[in-house]
Amino acid sequence: MTKIIHVVGARPNFMKIAPVIEALNQSAARNNRTVTQILVHTGQHYTPEMSALMFEQLGLPTPDYNLEIGSGGHGQQTGRIMEAFEKVLLAETPDLVVVVGDVNSTIACALDAKKLNIPVAHIEAGLRSYDREMPEEINRVLTDAISDYLFTTEESARLNLIGEGINGDKIFFVGNTMIDTLLKHKDAAKTRPILNTLNLKTNDQTKPYGIVTLHRPSNVDEAEPLKELLTCLAELSKDLTIVLPLHPRTRANIEKFNLMPVLENGQFILIEPQGYLDFICLMSNARLILSDSGGIQEEATVLGIPCLTLRENTERPITISEGTNTLVGNNPNAIINAFNNALNKDYSGKQPKYWDGSAAVRIADILLTQLMV
Ligand code: UD1
Repeated sequence: MTKIIHVVGARPNFMKIAPVIEALNQSAARNNRTVTQILVHTGQHYTPEMSALMFEQLGLPTPDYNLEIGSGGHGQQTGRIMEAFEKVLLAETPDLVVVVGDVNSTIACALDAKKLNIPVAHIEAGLRSYDREMPEEINRVLTDAISDYLFTTEESARLNLIGEGINGDKIFFVGNTMIDTLLKHKDAAKTRPILNTLNLKTNDQTKPYGIVTLHRPSNVDEAEPLKELLTCLAELSKDLTIVLPLHPRTRANIEKFNLMPVLENGQFILIEPQGYLDFICLMSNARLILSDSGGIQEEATVLGIPCLTLRENTERPITISEGTNTLVGNNPNAIINAFNNALNKDYSGKQPKYWDGSAAVRIADILLTQLMV
């Protein structure tokens, strides 16, 4: 019997782990293996839109453990996850811990496991922004340094890892499990009524609109950069209605810095963070996406929607070289230029190597071969 613990904590983890659990069940059945899978939710994200709704729409099993850690400073949150997850490991003694992405839950649980000599698999390994001011970059570098199985989404990741002295035998280029989930759900997402609900569709005609997401500390945690960005977006929204689902971090800072009046100057449709299917529906039908998210750059590439990334760097360079992504930073003139260019160009969906819906199956097959327990 092989026992595997999967860890999720924050919104971008859920869609990455769902296909892996499913593929492991199928691969175990095909190979006559008994695999017990345990799902641990650290509770880093906890509001319904950021968590429960995602579970429901992705068909994720109810977590076997919810550590209910909640929000806090980086040290506090990471430390609390470590303390709680260690107890789960001691009780369950798994053969493997699977972590995904780059959030605080990823490093906290990987570190716990390794201190107990439990092997760790990291899905989405090797991505690097080379910006160590990003909390996620620290989480990525440290998790990769201690993981035993490093599953990568694009070829650049292997070079990054080899450059950090990681043994190439541990690195497996498998593709992108977030895209597995997108390909599985994108047709169902198209039938969601969200466009009608937001008055973006009448008589089967979709009005042109853009969608914006913002939550990076470098864009939203200080008053001046946030005000400049929102002012710029308000200008753009005069040409193209902007749908703006407000991440809790961003909403709190807009309120704290008293910036709601800036938004009132533009043509925004302000909404709460959306469930997975509604958000995919909104992205699929948008003329343009502006975002500082990591995963959205990848989803936009596959959907063929232009994506302007409001950051100075990206850890996902394939979305630029092969996809629809353009790095624009947060300078208003650069954003306005890129916005006009993107609206005048034709884009089509791209499928970088192994972004084919089968990444999780590759992971499951590798893990079951390697873990002959
Ligand atoms: C975290 C991840 C980031 C990821 C993002 C996706 C880290 C270091 N950061 O950032 O990589 O891109 O999630 O959303 O792990 N809050 C709620 N409800 C929730 C969760 C948070 O209201 O369910 C509020 C809290 O006030 C909290 C704030 O949002 O203080 C920010 O949440 P936090 O988990 O600290 O970081 P994110 O910005 O979401």
